Amino acid sequence: MSLRTAGIVLMVIFWSVTGQDYGVTYTTHSICALKGSTVELSCTYKYPKKDKVTSTFWFTRKDSRGKFVSLRDDDDYKSRVKYNNDEPESRKTTEKRHFLTIGGVRESDSAKYMFRFITSSNKYFGNTGIRLSVSGLQVTFPSTVIEGQGVSLTCSPTCPLTDNSKLSYIWYKNGHLLTNEHNDLNLHTVIGDADNYSCAVKGREMLRSPEFTLNVRCVQFHILYFVILQQHLFN
Ligand SMILES: *[C@@H]1O[C@H](CO)[C@@H](O)[C@H](O)[C@H]1NC(C)=O
Repeated sequence: MSLRTAGIVLMVIFWSVTGQDYGVTYTTHSICALKGSTVELSCTYKYPKKDKVTSTFWFTRKDSRGKFVSLRDDDDYKSRVKYNNDEPESRKTTEKRHFLTIGGVRESDSAKYMFRFITSSNKYFGNTGIRLSVSGLQVTFPSTVIEGQGVSLTCSPTCPLTDNSKLSYIWYKNGHLLTNEHNDLNLHTVIGDADNYSCAVKGREMLRSPEFTLNVRCVQFHILYFVILQQHLFN
């Protein structure tokens, strides 16, 4: 066999081992979930029928020796994660589905999650991964609030939630519960004081937005001041 032929043969062998027979496809690119909720990530992975899978796991990082750390061996996760394998066999390659469930997600769980599988003859991971963003709540409001006028405050997650089932909201004014259950809070006429507002999701009262102070601009005072100033200037 000439060197050239040998090279081609080697390349073909290499291709068939590392090529398209192995793969990981994630069911989505990104997920935004509310802090404290349970999320499920999944992917399908495939390998040639003659090969045998010896290990499957999800990871976000490598350890100091460069080894991928399974979430089940990671102190930050191990009590909250579950792995699940689904096994529909297909003809030429073996294609399987794998699920990762993380309970009680924290802001520190925001990361890219990747799936790895090891077979008798190969090691493989899908580097596109699924990006998880863990959301808190925020109160948004107009930049200027004028005394005597109405104002609408909005409570929303810090990223658009993937699971868009309807949520009930709770509002607090100076720490006291208000009756409104919508994500909008309409105040008809605001006066004077700098009241503090925050919001939460019903059933998840532990997850509260930071307090926001509604600073009301007293417009009458400015007009009065302007009138006095003008009189002063033109006299
Ligand atoms: C709102 O919060 C600020 C800062 O924490 C505090 O100084 C102020 O007294 C609060 N206002 C009311 C009406 O409770």
